[in-house]
Amino acid sequence: MTDKFTEKFKPLFTREEVEDAVIRLAGEISRDFRGEEVLFVGVLKGSFIFLADLVRKVKDVSVEVDFVRVRSYGSSTSPETKPVITKDLEVNPAGKFVIIVEDIIDTGETLSYLIKHIRAMNPKDLRVCTLIDKRERRHSRVQVDYAGFTVEKGFVVGYGLDVGEKLRELEEIKVLPENNE
Ligand code: PRP
Repeated sequence: MTDKFTEKFKPLFTREEVEDAVIRLAGEISRDFRGEEVLFVGVLKGSFIFLADLVRKVKDVSVEVDFVRVRSYGSSTSPETKPVITKDLEVNPAGKFVIIVEDIIDTGETLSYLIKHIRAMNPKDLRVCTLIDKRERRHSRVQVDYAGFTVEKGFVVGYGLDVGEKLRELEEIKVLPENNE
């Protein structure tokens, strides 16, 4: 990854805007689950920063944290990719309020697979919280209960989101402009 390439990304959401979005989402979750125990499930790797900030802003909720990792694999004979869980939950979600925490939902494929997987373990309730809800390429229908930002399209990085494993550490969110922008 050359610096020349990472320099092409332009500001999309400032650090302050991200902070405000996290505080708003934490407020919504705190209202919905006041006095309850909630298991927050971060989807690795992209959600690690968002999840860490979100759970520290949630109030009057007993917080539990776990992580899953879902990878999409294709093959030379099939262009279709299929999500595979490469790291599963370690906390049993049965009978619990569970919130899946994503950095971004794009096609929706990862999430719809994960929702089926966790539902099969009988949580009391299962909701979805994402920092970025990106709409253009959505083909799997998923219900998003808490969303920080809605964007139509664009390659976004920062605040956990990477390009070739780089730029996850940015405090703001940037986007790669399309050719003619
Ligand atoms: C990203 C993101 C979601 C998924 C969304 O993960 O964190 O899990 O893609 O895409 P989808 O809606 O099209 O399924 P990625 O595979 O880039 O891995 P990372 O989190 O480790 O960067």
